[in-house]
Amino acid sequence: DETHKMRESLLKWYDLNRRDLPWRRLNHTSKEEDQSELDTRAYGVWVSEVMLQQTRVQTVIGYYNRWMEKWPTIHHLAQATLEEVNEMWVGLGYYRRARFLSEGAKKIVAEGGRIPETVSALRKIPGIGDYTAGAIASIAFNEVVPVVDGNVVRAIARLKAVSANPKDSVTIKRFWKVAAQLVDPFRPGDFNQALMELGATVCTPLNPSCSMCPVSEHCLALLISREDNSVVVTDY
Ligand code: ADE
Repeated sequence: DETHKMRESLLKWYDLNRRDLPWRRLNHTSKEEDQSELDTRAYGVWVSEVMLQQTRVQTVIGYYNRWMEKWPTIHHLAQATLEEVNEMWVGLGYYRRARFLSEGAKKIVAEGGRIPETVSALRKIPGIGDYTAGAIASIAFNEVVPVVDGNVVRAIARLKAVSANPKDSVTIKRFWKVAAQLVDPFRPGDFNQALMELGATVCTPLNPSCSMCPVSEHCLALLISREDNSVVVTDY
């Protein structure tokens, strides 16, 4: 059906275009991987996704690499003082995010050192909200859950031709439900990252590159704009 085809096209595009980002290097799933590799991967996804919440990918790369060099595992991070963590965060802003990472690491290590694998368990850690929980659960542990950020809201709004302000929290809540129906059941982490990346690079706020879009066939906003030149597709 339509959703099935859309997932397939988006994932194919992602496989060909995915950027080789440092936190993605930890992301390959191999059968032999041991528990500690899995833990390191989840930790890397957590750190990178928190950094990415208000900061562009290109800026995050350097911060991420320095962070992982200093605290390669959650156990290392749990030993760090808040001063050290804040010092590492200089330039990223929103220092609450750094404090939450630090406190979250301490809590997880105090409770055995395993990063929880599901959204519901992750949400119990202070500072891990819907976005971070969805990202860790889907990208690191393959839980079939959506991830919605501003880019995803915009992409879905266009696909479904829903007029919506991606900054409005009520809108974002509604889009979690739509995203949950779209997410690929076999590759949820890749699907979520593909949708975020599509929104960031192709389905941009102004002048989206519809001719380059892998899911333009499924896009209602594009369809409407073709039929009615008065519709402004970019107005989300
Ligand atoms: N933006 C935030 N997290 C991302 C991810 N994992 N992939 C692509 N874009 C992102």
